Amino acid sequence: WMPTGMTITTTIMKKAASAKHAGENTDMMRNIENGTLRPEHIGQDVELVGWVSKKRNFGQLCFIDLRDRTGICQLVFDEDKKDAVKDVRNEYILHVKGKVRERASKNPDLPTGDVEVEVTDFDIVNSAATTPLIIADQTDALEDTRLQYRYLDLRRPLMQKRLMERAAIVRSMREYLDGHGFIEVETPMLGKSTPEGARDYLVPSRVHPGSFYALPQSPQLYKQLLMIAGLERYYQFARCFRDEDLRADRQTDFTQVDLETSFLDEQEIMSMMEEMLVKLMKDVKGMDLPRPFRQISWTDAMNTYGSDKPDDRFGMELQDLKTLFKDTEFAVFKDAEAIKGIQVSGLEHLSNKDIKKYTEFVKKNGGSGLVVLKIQDGQLHGSAAKFLSDAEKAALLEGMQEGDAWFIVSGSWLKTVNALGALRNEIASIMGLKKKDEFSFLWVVDFPMFEWSEEENRWTACHHPFTQPKAEDIPLLTTDPGAVKANAYDIVLNGYELGGGSLRIHDNELQKQIFEILGLSDEDIKKKFGFFIDAFQYGTPPHGGLAFGLDRIAMILTGSDSIRDVIAFPKNAAANDPMSKAPTPVDKAQLEELKLAVVTEKK
Ligand code: AMO
Repeated sequence: WMPTGMTITTTIMKKAASAKHAGENTDMMRNIENGTLRPEHIGQDVELVGWVSKKRNFGQLCFIDLRDRTGICQLVFDEDKKDAVKDVRNEYILHVKGKVRERASKNPDLPTGDVEVEVTDFDIVNSAATTPLIIADQTDALEDTRLQYRYLDLRRPLMQKRLMERAAIVRSMREYLDGHGFIEVETPMLGKSTPEGARDYLVPSRVHPGSFYALPQSPQLYKQLLMIAGLERYYQFARCFRDEDLRADRQTDFTQVDLETSFLDEQEIMSMMEEMLVKLMKDVKGMDLPRPFRQISWTDAMNTYGSDKPDDRFGMELQDLKTLFKDTEFAVFKDAEAIKGIQVSGLEHLSNKDIKKYTEFVKKNGGSGLVVLKIQDGQLHGSAAKFLSDAEKAALLEGMQEGDAWFIVSGSWLKTVNALGALRNEIASIMGLKKKDEFSFLWVVDFPMFEWSEEENRWTACHHPFTQPKAEDIPLLTTDPGAVKANAYDIVLNGYELGGGSLRIHDNELQKQIFEILGLSDEDIKKKFGFFIDAFQYGTPPHGGLAFGLDRIAMILTGSDSIRDVIAFPKNAAANDPMSKAPTPVDKAQLEELKLAVVTEKK
């Protein structure tokens, strides 16, 4: 052993060769990982490699915390070697040999805190410039700085742990699917536009100037074609691309755990997915989830939680106040289609400023306004109190305590429940009622088939156009499309839509009828889905499936606030990559080759 790069390489090669014979650890620069050192290793000779996390001089000694992906351990350089590490700084890479010994002063906060390594020999494998980020779990760096130097941000143990947990999630789900007859099939990235409702990312064809591929918003059409092809059970960890406004739970490119089955009904598909999620929670979080998961109809979810992705970890359910106010003289409530309220406790200090803020919030979420009534000294207080009758006040006060308040929204049903549901979530977040270590899965079922788009003045598909309507509602297709329910289901976790799917139409005539309701002409259908519709005439099995958002699962299970934290190289909220600076303009030559011209608008 000589502390030179050359020697390391030779040592490595020798070790690798001998390891093969001996069947021992083939890792070439180390015989143990830093974070795994424990008192049982005391007295052992170890060889380690890693990044310098911290360096401290203490009298004649120098201490270095050496980090690899398993954690850090403390190295001790004695008087002889102290000089040799004088230029070593944070993030240098060291290769070290030494002996494990018990620490004089133990560090109970560190898994390796009982021991340290007395260095006998070492080599500086590489130096490092001062990093623009501190490599530690706690960071005050701006997100764009973190994304610009993502490779350093990912060096932070917290971020590594998140990526490892994401990999464990993938492993667990893959294991389940492989074990249940699902066949992994890849589908094209360059294809034809799919109808998930977002904008497509288009890729120009050089060979066919003026023609474009679309990146898949999901592999929906392909997976249905795989069922027609007779695969029966398919899955894919599928990259999907959607050009939509980004949020904490949305990315331009994201990953779906996409699957499709033949010959199973809705309940069978949901049951299998529950089994997979129960296994996942056991594998990744060590938790035993009760089954079956709760199933709630879309209508009940909207009425009770004001959301199609309800978070039922806390109360504050929406209450219907229409009957209570049936004879009201209060103009705001008098002719309202819906009057809904939530009761919130612990608001002794609710200020007028808070009320103003909540009112703005409700308006931003589509509500017409907000009535707040607070209970103080056994009386209802609030600007609307004077418009209410004694009977109405008494009814509202029933069962209420000091510090409780009513938040009431009225107006058209959907806007009212949506706005109040959003407020319910907001208040729960502010009051810290959303516990990150509590996991509540539920299914939302019986979705409406269509929703009316005021913007486009036509019906649009709530899920997608291939979703099967409930058999008993088929007669309503011609008379009242808005009342038709779909065989569609969403899986929700802690108020996030984790995934969604449906049984698909396998009857050509019904599919055509749905397209007609959606306002697609025969020509549109042929142009957009001709190849797909054609396939249906050759013996299409009844089929259905769903897709989970893998990034969202990883976000929630790792307790992260954004899916950006569980994606190695995400885009920021403005859909930029601060590291590579994508998207960027391209060379003129590239454009010419594609026969494209960029038209810039004159300001
Ligand atoms: P859907 O459009 O509901 O269904 O998508 C399924 C799941 O994918 C996740 N998801 C996203 N995650 C991150 N960023 C995004 N921009 C984004 N968009 C969607 C969500 C969502 O629940 N083909 C159908 C599925 C099917 O019917 O089988 C589909 O794509 O978690």
